Amino acid sequence: MVERGVDIAPANGKLGILLVGLGAVSTTFVAGVEAIRKGTSNPIGSLTQMGTIRLGKRTENRCPKIKDFVPLAGLDDIVFGAWDIFHDSAYEAALNAGVLEKSQVEDLREQLESLKPMAAVFEQNYVKRITGENIKTGKNKMELAEQLIADIARFKEEKGCDRLVMVWAASTEIFVTASAVHESLEAFEKGLYDDDANIAPSMIYAYAALKSKVPFANGAPNLSCDIPALTRLAEDNNVPICGKDFKTGQTLMKTIIAPGLKSRMLGLEGWYSTNILGNRDGEVLDDPESFKTKEESKLSVLEHILQPDVYPELYKDFAHVVRINYYPPRGDNKEGWDSIDIFGWLGYKMQIKIDFMCRDSILAAPLVLDLALFMDLAQRAGMKGVQEWLSFYFKAPQTAPELYPEHDLFIQLMKLKNTLRHLQGEDLITHLGLEYYD
Ligand SMILES: NC(=O)c1ccc[n+]([C@@H]2O[C@H](COP(=O)([O-])OP(=O)(O)OC[C@H]3O[C@@H](n4cnc5c(N)ncnc54)[C@H](O)[C@@H]3O)[C@@H](O)[C@H]2O)c1
Repeated sequence: MVERGVDIAPANGKLGILLVGLGAVSTTFVAGVEAIRKGTSNPIGSLTQMGTIRLGKRTENRCPKIKDFVPLAGLDDIVFGAWDIFHDSAYEAALNAGVLEKSQVEDLREQLESLKPMAAVFEQNYVKRITGENIKTGKNKMELAEQLIADIARFKEEKGCDRLVMVWAASTEIFVTASAVHESLEAFEKGLYDDDANIAPSMIYAYAALKSKVPFANGAPNLSCDIPALTRLAEDNNVPICGKDFKTGQTLMKTIIAPGLKSRMLGLEGWYSTNILGNRDGEVLDDPESFKTKEESKLSVLEHILQPDVYPELYKDFAHVVRINYYPPRGDNKEGWDSIDIFGWLGYKMQIKIDFMCRDSILAAPLVLDLALFMDLAQRAGMKGVQEWLSFYFKAPQTAPELYPEHDLFIQLMKLKNTLRHLQGEDLITHLGLEYYD
């Protein structure tokens, strides 16, 4: 061991996971955890539950499960809370989302029915395609934030939670860029009192979480806590934050394939991606302003992985197009096509076609679990502000302002595991390996 590691408070008591949005992803997540607790399913897709971590030299044969290596909250200690603009319980919302088979939802009816959403902070201008009736009112945005803070405190008290984390799994908001009101906490709080139109509901949730010292993970591409005012508040209040936009489906594939092409020095002429999707998320993303937020998040990935400035002969000016089409018959079962035009030795052209018949929420649910457990770990380990080591889970990883995000899935995984080794005082793994041949 090189260093002693970090003092991490034990994961005693209950962990409350507060979900903003009780739609397809959230209900699939909650139902999955309930099924795993009942022993009727395995946590497939969850690194915290199924992943292992190699420690020390390859000859030492030390490879514990991650959940046995770092002190994570156990699944039996989790309780759920949620907000949504609809009154539907998790049972009704799961049936509505149509991700899980009806018989599976019925099996978990009692647990799912007990999860009823609190009234949401919502603004029609930020999500145009849906309207609901379970919505808070207040004289200004600060009052709405205070109501969320009161919800958080009440939930903690009523459920007897020791700790909380909040995960944004609500609809994607319209595209906004950071402006003066987001620059400092002072400006932001004044903006809350003044009902500033540039403060989105997702920012109000993030603010309420951070004021309550609750870690906040953002599963959608909207800015939320990715503004100077809130990153500062996270640091000042010793709260971890991370985002943005769960990396599932097509972007997951992109960040698996693109590093491979680059490592073989194969060139790219263009990458055309299109999706058909028929769930409520697809309906919201059918609005050009919400799609713009998603598009920005999806487009940045290839540029960062392929580094056209460093490899102009291979990657200068490649065409990258991303489309999402709302097509109701497919429901949550998204189909993502990629047509990739590459070139090799002497410039000869080749094509790769991917047709990923995926299930969006099935891919996203384990990410919610891992993020909640790792964010809780981070807080108990005294980590605060942006948690870049959790980039592994995001399409548009939040980083310090002066850094470009790392998108390569394999580098992200290495970074995540090295962070866990660092926390526990184990040697970081460099993959040098010369010592085996000395
Ligand atoms: N499923 C995936 O693979 C995936 C991947 C990346 C990102 N995401 C993002 O995760 C989010 C959730 O996806 P989903 O498929 O569950 O969508 P969904 O439409 O099924 O659920 C979103 C829920 O959020 C609620 N909502 C909207 N605004 C709210 C607010 N201000 N407060 C509280 N609730 C609010 C809606 O009523 C809805 O029930 C979306 O933003 C989506 O873009 C999903």
